[in-house]
Amino acid sequence: MTIAIIGAGAIGNAIASQLSRNGIAAAIANSRGPQSLAALNLPGITPATIEEAAKADLVFLAVPWSKIPAAVDGLGPWNGRIVVDTNNPIEAPLFQPVNLHGKASSAVIQQLLPGAQVVKAFNHLQPGLLAGDPGAEGGQRVLFVSGDHVEAKRAVLALVEQLGFAGIDLGTLDGGGRLAQFPGGPLPALNLVKFG
Ligand SMILES: NC(=O)c1ccc[n+]([C@@H]2O[C@H](COP(=O)([O-])OP(=O)(O)OC[C@H]3O[C@@H](n4cnc5c(N)ncnc54)[C@H](OP(=O)(O)O)[C@@H]3O)[C@@H](O)[C@H]2O)c1
Repeated sequence: MTIAIIGAGAIGNAIASQLSRNGIAAAIANSRGPQSLAALNLPGITPATIEEAAKADLVFLAVPWSKIPAAVDGLGPWNGRIVVDTNNPIEAPLFQPVNLHGKASSAVIQQLLPGAQVVKAFNHLQPGLLAGDPGAEGGQRVLFVSGDHVEAKRAVLALVEQLGFAGIDLGTLDGGGRLAQFPGGPLPALNLVKFG
Protein backbone atom coordinates (compact mmCIF):
# COMPACT_ATOMS: atom_id res chain seq x y z
CA MET A 1 0.00 0.00 0.00
CA THR A 2 1.47 3.38 -1.02
CA ILE A 3 1.11 6.26 1.44
CA ALA A 4 1.28 10.03 1.01
CA ILE A 5 0.66 13.14 3.07
CA ILE A 6 -0.82 16.35 1.68
CA GLY A 7 0.17 19.11 4.09
CA ALA A 8 3.62 19.33 5.60
CA GLY A 9 2.95 21.48 8.62
CA ALA A 10 2.60 20.50 12.27
CA ILE A 11 0.31 17.50 11.72
CA GLY A 12 1.76 16.40 8.37
CA ASN A 13 5.23 16.41 9.87
CA ALA A 14 4.11 14.54 12.97
CA ILE A 15 2.64 11.77 10.81
CA ALA A 16 5.70 11.75 8.56
CA SER A 17 8.03 11.36 11.52
CA GLN A 18 6.00 8.43 12.89
CA LEU A 19 6.00 6.70 9.50
CA SER A 20 9.73 7.29 9.08
CA ARG A 21 10.53 6.00 12.58
CA ASN A 22 8.70 2.80 11.75
CA GLY A 23 10.37 2.31 8.37
CA ILE A 24 7.22 3.05 6.37
CA ALA A 25 7.83 4.95 3.14
CA ALA A 26 5.61 7.87 2.17
CA ALA A 27 5.46 10.90 -0.11
CA ILE A 28 4.78 14.35 1.34
CA ALA A 29 3.50 17.49 -0.38
CA ASN A 30 2.76 21.10 0.51
CA SER A 31 1.50 24.13 -1.39
CA ARG A 32 4.97 25.34 -2.42
CA GLY A 33 6.28 22.26 -4.17
CA PRO A 34 8.78 19.51 -3.38
CA GLN A 35 11.85 21.76 -3.56
CA SER A 36 10.58 23.63 -0.51
CA LEU A 37 10.74 20.34 1.41
CA ALA A 38 14.29 19.52 0.36
CA ALA A 39 15.59 20.06 3.89
CA LEU A 40 13.19 17.48 5.33
CA ASN A 41 15.43 14.86 6.85
CA LEU A 42 13.17 11.90 7.46
CA PRO A 43 14.39 8.58 6.03
CA GLY A 44 11.82 7.09 3.66
CA ILE A 45 9.79 10.31 3.37
CA THR A 46 10.01 11.77 -0.14
CA PRO A 47 8.92 15.28 -1.14
CA ALA A 48 6.39 15.20 -3.97
CA THR A 49 3.88 17.35 -5.80
CA ILE A 50 0.29 17.38 -4.57
CA GLU A 51 -0.77 15.54 -7.72
CA GLU A 52 1.79 12.79 -7.11
CA ALA A 53 0.77 12.51 -3.46
CA ALA A 54 -2.90 12.20 -4.36
CA LYS A 55 -2.19 9.04 -6.36
CA ALA A 56 -1.22 7.03 -3.25
CA ASP A 57 -3.48 4.25 -1.99
CA LEU A 58 -3.77 6.03 1.35
CA VAL A 59 -3.53 9.83 1.50
CA PHE A 60 -3.34 11.80 4.75
CA LEU A 61 -4.94 15.21 4.30
CA ALA A 62 -3.49 17.70 6.81
CA VAL A 63 -4.28 21.20 5.60
CA PRO A 64 -5.92 24.14 7.43
CA TRP A 65 -9.70 24.03 7.00
CA SER A 66 -10.13 27.07 4.75
CA LYS A 67 -7.38 25.88 2.40
CA ILE A 68 -8.67 22.34 1.89
CA PRO A 69 -10.91 23.08 -1.13
CA ALA A 70 -7.97 24.61 -3.03
CA ALA A 71 -5.63 21.83 -1.92
CA VAL A 72 -7.83 19.04 -3.27
CA ASP A 73 -9.19 20.86 -6.32
CA GLY A 74 -8.76 18.71 -9.42
CA LEU A 75 -7.13 15.78 -7.63
CA GLY A 76 -9.90 13.28 -8.36
CA PRO A 77 -11.26 10.94 -9.42
CA TRP A 78 -10.39 9.16 -6.17
CA ASN A 79 -11.55 5.74 -7.31
CA GLY A 80 -11.93 4.34 -3.83
CA ARG A 81 -8.53 5.48 -2.53
CA ILE A 82 -8.40 6.10 1.22
CA VAL A 83 -8.15 9.66 2.51
CA VAL A 84 -7.41 10.09 6.20
CA ASP A 85 -9.10 13.28 7.38
CA THR A 86 -6.82 14.68 10.08
CA ASN A 87 -8.52 18.05 9.92
CA ASN A 88 -10.65 20.13 12.25
CA PRO A 89 -13.06 22.90 11.23
CA ILE A 90 -11.27 25.70 13.04
CA GLU A 91 -7.96 27.42 12.51
CA ALA A 92 -5.42 29.86 13.83
CA PRO A 93 -5.18 32.69 14.54
CA LEU A 94 -8.86 33.41 15.27
CA PHE A 95 -9.99 29.89 16.27
CA GLN A 96 -13.55 30.72 15.22
CA PRO A 97 -15.57 27.53 14.70
CA VAL A 98 -16.75 27.11 11.10
CA ASN A 99 -20.51 26.87 10.60
CA LEU A 100 -20.97 23.39 9.13
CA HIS A 101 -24.78 23.70 9.04
CA GLY A 102 -25.16 20.64 11.22
CA LYS A 103 -22.86 18.38 9.24
CA ALA A 104 -19.97 16.40 10.67
CA SER A 105 -16.73 17.97 9.41
CA SER A 106 -15.70 14.72 7.73
CA ALA A 107 -18.97 14.70 5.79
CA VAL A 108 -17.90 18.05 4.35
CA ILE A 109 -14.50 16.57 3.48
CA GLN A 110 -16.19 13.55 1.91
CA GLN A 111 -18.23 15.88 -0.34
CA LEU A 112 -15.01 17.50 -1.54
CA LEU A 113 -13.54 14.10 -2.40
CA PRO A 114 -16.14 12.16 -4.38
CA GLY A 115 -15.25 8.51 -4.67
CA ALA A 116 -12.70 8.61 -1.84
CA GLN A 117 -13.07 6.43 1.22
CA VAL A 118 -12.71 9.04 3.96
CA VAL A 119 -11.56 7.90 7.39
CA LYS A 120 -11.29 10.38 10.25
CA ALA A 121 -8.20 9.83 12.38
CA PHE A 122 -4.97 11.50 13.60
CA ASN A 123 -6.98 14.69 14.33
CA HIS A 124 -7.60 14.69 18.07
CA LEU A 125 -4.12 15.21 19.52
CA GLN A 126 -1.74 18.13 19.59
CA PRO A 127 1.13 17.70 17.11
CA GLY A 128 3.72 17.13 19.84
CA LEU A 129 1.82 14.16 21.24
CA LEU A 130 1.08 12.81 17.76
CA ALA A 131 4.78 12.96 16.91
CA GLY A 132 5.94 11.56 20.24
CA ASP A 133 6.57 8.02 21.39
CA PRO A 134 3.12 6.36 21.59
CA GLY A 135 4.48 4.19 24.40
CA ALA A 136 5.80 7.07 26.49
CA GLU A 137 3.34 6.59 29.35
CA GLY A 138 3.93 2.86 29.58
CA GLY A 139 0.85 1.82 27.63
CA GLN A 140 -0.21 2.70 24.11
CA ARG A 141 -1.40 6.20 23.29
CA VAL A 142 -4.92 6.06 21.81
CA LEU A 143 -5.92 7.26 18.35
CA PHE A 144 -9.56 7.26 17.27
CA VAL A 145 -10.66 6.01 13.87
CA SER A 146 -14.08 6.66 12.32
CA GLY A 147 -15.42 5.89 8.88
CA ASP A 148 -18.23 4.51 6.80
CA HIS A 149 -16.08 2.11 4.76
CA VAL A 150 -15.20 -0.99 6.73
CA GLU A 151 -12.12 -2.04 4.72
CA ALA A 152 -10.69 1.47 4.63
CA LYS A 153 -11.15 1.83 8.37
CA ARG A 154 -9.51 -1.55 8.90
CA ALA A 155 -6.49 -0.42 6.84
CA VAL A 156 -6.15 2.78 8.88
CA LEU A 157 -6.54 0.89 12.16
CA ALA A 158 -3.79 -1.50 11.03
CA LEU A 159 -1.50 1.43 10.26
CA VAL A 160 -2.30 3.05 13.62
CA GLU A 161 -1.29 -0.19 15.37
CA GLN A 162 1.82 -0.55 13.20
CA LEU A 163 2.91 2.89 14.44
CA GLY A 164 2.54 1.70 18.02
CA PHE A 165 -0.70 3.47 18.94
CA ALA A 166 -3.86 1.80 20.20
CA GLY A 167 -6.56 2.32 17.61
CA ILE A 168 -10.14 2.65 18.79
CA ASP A 169 -12.93 2.30 16.25
CA LEU A 170 -15.58 4.91 17.00
CA GLY A 171 -17.95 3.88 14.23
CA THR A 172 -19.20 6.03 11.39
CA LEU A 173 -18.11 9.49 10.25
CA ASP A 174 -21.38 10.94 11.46
CA GLY A 175 -21.26 9.15 14.80
CA GLY A 176 -17.63 8.65 15.82
CA GLY A 177 -16.36 11.46 13.64
CA ARG A 178 -18.38 13.96 15.63
CA LEU A 179 -17.08 12.59 18.94
CA ALA A 180 -13.48 13.18 17.84
CA GLN A 181 -14.13 16.47 16.07
CA PHE A 182 -12.80 19.76 17.40
CA PRO A 183 -14.70 21.79 18.33
CA GLY A 184 -17.83 19.97 19.43
CA GLY A 185 -16.71 16.48 20.36
CA PRO A 186 -15.70 15.38 23.86
CA LEU A 187 -12.51 13.59 22.78
CA PRO A 188 -10.13 16.14 21.21
CA ALA A 189 -6.94 16.91 23.14
CA LEU A 190 -7.43 13.99 25.53
CA ASN A 191 -4.15 12.11 25.82
CA LEU A 192 -5.66 8.72 26.53
CA VAL A 193 -3.45 5.65 27.05
CA LYS A 194 -4.51 2.03 26.80
CA PHE A 195 -2.96 -0.40 29.26
CA GLY A 196 -3.27 -4.07 28.45
N1 LIG B 1 -1.98 21.99 14.90
C1 LIG B 1 -2.82 21.32 15.69
O1 LIG B 1 -2.82 21.45 16.92
C2 LIG B 1 -3.80 20.34 15.09
C3 LIG B 1 -4.26 19.27 15.87
C4 LIG B 1 -5.15 18.36 15.29
C5 LIG B 1 -5.58 18.54 13.98
N2 LIG B 1 -5.13 19.60 13.26
C6 LIG B 1 -5.63 19.78 11.90
O2 LIG B 1 -4.60 19.40 10.98
C7 LIG B 1 -4.71 20.18 9.80
C8 LIG B 1 -3.34 20.75 9.52
O3 LIG B 1 -3.00 21.61 10.59
P1 LIG B 1 -1.48 22.02 10.85
O4 LIG B 1 -1.45 22.57 12.23
O5 LIG B 1 -0.57 20.90 10.48
O6 LIG B 1 -1.31 23.22 9.80
P2 LIG B 1 0.02 23.97 9.40
O7 LIG B 1 1.12 23.68 10.34
O8 LIG B 1 -0.38 25.38 9.15
O9 LIG B 1 0.42 23.30 7.99
C9 LIG B 1 -0.46 23.36 6.92
C10 LIG B 1 0.12 22.68 5.70
O10 LIG B 1 -0.88 22.72 4.68
C11 LIG B 1 -0.25 23.07 3.48
N3 LIG B 1 -1.17 23.69 2.53
C12 LIG B 1 -1.84 24.85 2.64
N4 LIG B 1 -2.55 25.08 1.52
C13 LIG B 1 -2.29 24.04 0.69
C14 LIG B 1 -2.69 23.73 -0.62
N5 LIG B 1 -3.52 24.53 -1.32
N6 LIG B 1 -2.22 22.59 -1.18
C15 LIG B 1 -1.39 21.78 -0.48
N7 LIG B 1 -0.97 22.03 0.76
C16 LIG B 1 -1.41 23.16 1.34
C17 LIG B 1 0.82 24.05 3.87
O11 LIG B 1 1.74 24.16 2.82
P3 LIG B 1 2.84 25.34 2.82
O12 LIG B 1 3.76 25.05 3.96
O13 LIG B 1 3.49 25.22 1.49
O14 LIG B 1 2.06 26.60 3.02
C18 LIG B 1 1.37 23.37 5.13
O15 LIG B 1 2.33 22.42 4.77
C19 LIG B 1 -5.77 21.26 10.05
O16 LIG B 1 -6.97 20.92 9.41
C20 LIG B 1 -5.96 21.22 11.56
O17 LIG B 1 -7.28 21.53 11.97
C21 LIG B 1 -4.22 20.49 13.77
